[in-house]
Amino acid sequence: MDIINRRRSVRSFLDKPIEKEKIELLMRAAMQAPSARNQQPWHFVIIQERETLQAIATISRNVQMLNEASLVIIVLIDKDNLTAPLMAPQDVAAATQNILLKAVDLDLGTCWCGIYPREERMASVAKILNVPDCYQIFSLIAVGYPKEKNANRFVNRFDPTRIHYEKF
Ligand SMILES: Cc1cc2nc3c(=O)[nH]c(=O)nc-3n(C[C@H](O)[C@H](O)[C@H](O)COP(=O)(O)O)c2cc1C
Repeated sequence: MDIINRRRSVRSFLDKPIEKEKIELLMRAAMQAPSARNQQPWHFVIIQERETLQAIATISRNVQMLNEASLVIIVLIDKDNLTAPLMAPQDVAAATQNILLKAVDLDLGTCWCGIYPREERMASVAKILNVPDCYQIFSLIAVGYPKEKNANRFVNRFDPTRIHYEKF
């Protein structure tokens, strides 16, 4: 619960690289996600080059934090190898969330930025990264060491009125 409670969207980062070991742990967390028919449709592009981060930051006002992030993880769907195609976005959403939670455990800050299903954002990112047509870009995760000390902190959202037992 502690890690789930403290996960916040972080948009301001220190100028500090992320250790290789931590990147691998984020990827290990991602690939432990559940997926429909266990299809595991995910691929990931990890970007640390400042020039590329800045280029992606231009695609939308919503991804400005990439100008400060130490790296970005692009989450993609391999469209050619799906056994439950309609479920694939849910699979990669679960992988995305696993990355956010593992990041809290590693004292990192993250921000999930929605790319899919906005066609213009998907096309812009695909063009910058030379992504082949058979891969669909799903999300973008900004990662870095938070500038603010208490960036990952508990905000209570529990609302018992949203819970319905047996029938709505
Ligand atoms: C599907 C999805 C898309 C999001 N897209 C963006 C985005 O483009 N830019 C951004 O700054 N935050 C984005 N967020 C983060 C939300 O704004 C954030 O989760 C929400 O305000 C709640 O704050 P918290 O993450 O700190 O709990 C997105 C989150 C989700 C789940």
